[in-house]
Amino acid sequence: MIPSKTKPGEDAANDTGENLMTTARTLDTDEPRRISGLPTGPALRRAAAFLADLVKDPAFLKTEVRSLIEEASGREDWYVAHRHEAEDGAFSLQVFVWPPGTGTRIHDHSSWGAYCCAAGTVLEERYGRLDDGSRPDHARLRKDWQLWWGPGDGASTVQPGDGGIHRVGNPGESPAVSVHLYGPRTGETDGRDYDPSQDHVCDRRD
Ligand SMILES: [Fe+2]
Repeated sequence: MIPSKTKPGEDAANDTGENLMTTARTLDTDEPRRISGLPTGPALRRAAAFLADLVKDPAFLKTEVRSLIEEASGREDWYVAHRHEAEDGAFSLQVFVWPPGTGTRIHDHSSWGAYCCAAGTVLEERYGRLDDGSRPDHARLRKDWQLWWGPGDGASTVQPGDGGIHRVGNPGESPAVSVHLYGPRTGETDGRDYDPSQDHVCDRRD
């Protein structure tokens, strides 16, 4: 999740006070609201189940996903097509579009997160730290694993901070769409970006 990638759209407010994009009113935000009040462990289990069910929902696929697959062919970079933000920062539900050959930087989040592929396939890489975090702006990473995710594979979950350093992308030749749910933010910025070639880490700026 990187906020600057949001696709321009009109915001609207529903009667629960959440900010919703007009194109994404079909999504259920009651369950994300309930999940956001749970401790991280139970929240991640519920978030994974919520997303896995969502990507099997024919109405969601029809109204939220199919048009994005068509739209992705005209885009050069990944972006967030729909974003549902709780006004109090309790959760953020986002639909990502991944044109072929796109991917994020290596990063973490200041909140817990869960994501599930809704169409196509995405590649997730996961990293751990080799250093103890005591040097400012310094982080030495090792790659722990990578996994391809497609519809029906369930959801991946990440812990907040450097317990969930990852990169998501689509190295394939067809567009992909994924749905992400993030919990309450614990910092001013939404996590950090890592550059393993320089052993560098910094707060995310965009
Ligand atoms: Fe992420």
